[in-house]
Amino acid sequence: MAGNRAVVYTGPGKVEVSDIDFPGLVLRDGPGVNPRNVGRKCEHGVILKVVSTNICGSDQHMVRGRTTAPSGLVLGHEITGEVIELGRDVEFIKKGDLVSVPFNIACGRCRSCKERNTNVCLNVNPDRPGSAYGYVDMGGWVGGQSEYVMVPYADFQLLKFPDKEQAMEKIRDLTMLSDIFPTGYHGAVSAGVRPGSTVYVAGAGPVGLAAAHSAQLLGAAVVIVGDLNGERLAQARSFGCETVNLSEHANLGEQIEQILGVPEVDSAIDCVGFEAHGHGHGHTEAPATVLNSIMEVTRAGGRLGIPGLYVTGDPGAIDNDAKVGTLKIRFGLGWAKSHTFVTGQTPVMQYHRELMMSILNGKAQIAKAVNATVISLDDAPRAYQEFDKGAARKFVIDPHGLIK
Ligand SMILES: NC(=O)c1ccc[n+]([C@@H]2O[C@H](COP(=O)([O-])OP(=O)(O)OC[C@H]3O[C@@H](n4cnc5c(N)ncnc54)[C@H](O)[C@@H]3O)[C@@H](O)[C@H]2O)c1
Ligand SMILES: [Zn+2]
Ligand SMILES: [Zn+2]
Repeated sequence: MAGNRAVVYTGPGKVEVSDIDFPGLVLRDGPGVNPRNVGRKCEHGVILKVVSTNICGSDQHMVRGRTTAPSGLVLGHEITGEVIELGRDVEFIKKGDLVSVPFNIACGRCRSCKERNTNVCLNVNPDRPGSAYGYVDMGGWVGGQSEYVMVPYADFQLLKFPDKEQAMEKIRDLTMLSDIFPTGYHGAVSAGVRPGSTVYVAGAGPVGLAAAHSAQLLGAAVVIVGDLNGERLAQARSFGCETVNLSEHANLGEQIEQILGVPEVDSAIDCVGFEAHGHGHGHTEAPATVLNSIMEVTRAGGRLGIPGLYVTGDPGAIDNDAKVGTLKIRFGLGWAKSHTFVTGQTPVMQYHRELMMSILNGKAQIAKAVNATVISLDDAPRAYQEFDKGAARKFVIDPHGLIK
């Protein structure tokens, strides 16, 4: 049997590349696997040879020790690969197909899946609705920052690229379909972005940059990206965004007024989440900052897209309330302005096919927007460190050296 190597979380601040089991069409016991998922048969699944698998800001929450992720957890939920083995019940996906895997795991059979809310599938995680590969509290499905990975419910979940050769040419873009491109796009759609909109995007990490590019694709008149990291803001300017450096300017509304002539936008998107910092010099962590500031700067009747992740348990939080996910949000302001809030995991399958078509037909340049940077599996621990320091890059692991 072939071996398998993977990126494994070994404790706060630490990841290693280790040997792990070659996947089978069953969910075996291991670190983070929910006892009620152990032994679960997956004849509806496939084994993929991983072609590309990206490091995400969501992984960093675990690696920074800000979750209850156990040591030994195999990381990775952004997976693109080639099918090398089929379960008995797989009917339509074939060996050799090159596919994008939605980071949410979804059965295709429950009420949520039938309503296209694959982000809260009821059958894949015994603890709560919703699941993902290589993630704490998500049922224990083994992560895909590895050479090989098992993907269940293959016929339902996998997005097959129509032409393998063409797909390999555009793999730096297509690899973003497993998470951040749909996530940024979902943020923009749920914030009501349309032609002529003015948009504020909080965060210039890969998700923020994907949201900014998505807002452009949706026809926004002006896209303003805010962050405390100058290098990431320069990346946002490289594809036509306006920027606000929040470590230099504490008042976001004033900065928006300088750009738009008014201190408010039509739509705002939180691409930061619970590890948000406050604004201004000497900023420290202040988890409700982005939620409160987007309520302030979004017009009455506007919509707030909130893909940024908020947790129900954070051992490293700044106070006891935040340790259980209770934040000091000025909800009265949002109520007074009749704001609509859209939160949660992205239902990737609602968007990935259309965004694939935009990539394949040259309409979307997501790899350029997020500065996709291809690395080997062995380089992953270094990339985790650089990404944690705020590198203006989206790291794409190429475990088999297949990307030109
Ligand atoms: N909803 C989903 O399905 C989904 C999917 C993917 C990622 N996410 C989440 O989206 C968030 C962003 O992901 P990422 O990969 O870009 O992470 P990232 O950590 O690379 O980027 C976050 C950025 O926010 C900046 N920031 C901190 N405080 C800020 C503030 N007050 N205002 C503006 N910017 C601020 C940081 O400097 C950093 O550049 C994370 O919370 C991640 O978990 C959610
Ligand atoms: Zn992700
Ligand atoms: Zn389901």
